[in-house]
Amino acid sequence: MDSPLSADVAAARDAGLTRVAASVTLDELAAVDAEVLGKKGSLVVLKTRLGSLGTVDEKKAAGQALHAATQAVTEALTVRREELRRAARAAQLEAERLDLTEELVGPRRGHAHLVTQAWHRLEDVFIGLGFQIAEGPEVETDFYNFEALNMPRSHPARSGFDTLFTDYHGPLAEEGTVLLRTHTSPVQIRVMQTIEPPIYMVMPGRVFRRDTPDATHMPVFHQIEGLVIDRGITMAHLAGTIDAFTKAFFGGAFTSRLRPNYFPFTEPSAEFDIQRPDGSWIELGGCGMVHPNVLRAGGLDPEEWSGFAFGFGIDRMARERHGIDDIRDMYSNDIRFIEQF
Ligand code: PHE
Repeated sequence: MDSPLSADVAAARDAGLTRVAASVTLDELAAVDAEVLGKKGSLVVLKTRLGSLGTVDEKKAAGQALHAATQAVTEALTVRREELRRAARAAQLEAERLDLTEELVGPRRGHAHLVTQAWHRLEDVFIGLGFQIAEGPEVETDFYNFEALNMPRSHPARSGFDTLFTDYHGPLAEEGTVLLRTHTSPVQIRVMQTIEPPIYMVMPGRVFRRDTPDATHMPVFHQIEGLVIDRGITMAHLAGTIDAFTKAFFGGAFTSRLRPNYFPFTEPSAEFDIQRPDGSWIELGGCGMVHPNVLRAGGLDPEEWSGFAFGFGIDRMARERHGIDDIRDMYSNDIRFIEQF
């Protein structure tokens, strides 16, 4: 028959196990640990009663029962502690979670500016035609913006560009030779200097001119430059590319034409226009066969390579597409205007 001590051991063990299972915080668990296994714990104090037992066998049996009970409670404490730690860690992670993909849904959700939209659409269309994208610096040197584009100092065409110069002069450049690029054409030179032909590239970017803002001009605007360099490239490739672009961008009912013009960096040079289905024309940009001097400045042999280039305004494309009368409206940051597009 069980001695009262072994009954008390079993009762203390079961009470301990129940309380361990019922603990929901680590603090609660620590309290249970102290109350059952601490110095004056319910199982520990029972040890003092071993001495009062009669036979050695009784003492031994009770001692073993006490040891087993202590082990059972210790093990339950360890398992439960681990569970609670894991739960606490998970709760902390959840509480500190930062959802970087969270989007605001609702009527006031933002979108890209209409010039950015036009920029991206142009890139998409040219990528579809097999072109790659490159970009160059907005602060340029006289060499890239003019000299390498066959406009040496005192070339009359320079004055047409209304250039904004920086006042930088120092170890990198002489006074009056660092400027805000007036067109994206300097990127042609940078591309030729770094990439082996064949080259099929478009180069979008921001450009600057000393202009007073009016309905059709802004001192800061955007252009996209095209450059093709390969063997045996002719004016027919240029006209075909402009036309393929026109149909891909505006739609199959639009056509294009080239009109003779002059640019120092292309020879021959042309202006290109797009015809709307109603027969009216949009003047879009300039183009031509890359001048041999420009090929040389880009490090290419004009006997081996030939190519064409074109450039046009992105802002104008956006204005054209959305029928905006005054280009200044696009930059007024009037949200009522901007959010319509
Ligand atoms: N860079 C010229 C401009 O800004 C456009 C152009 C680019 C013309 C390429 C010919 C070839 O007016």
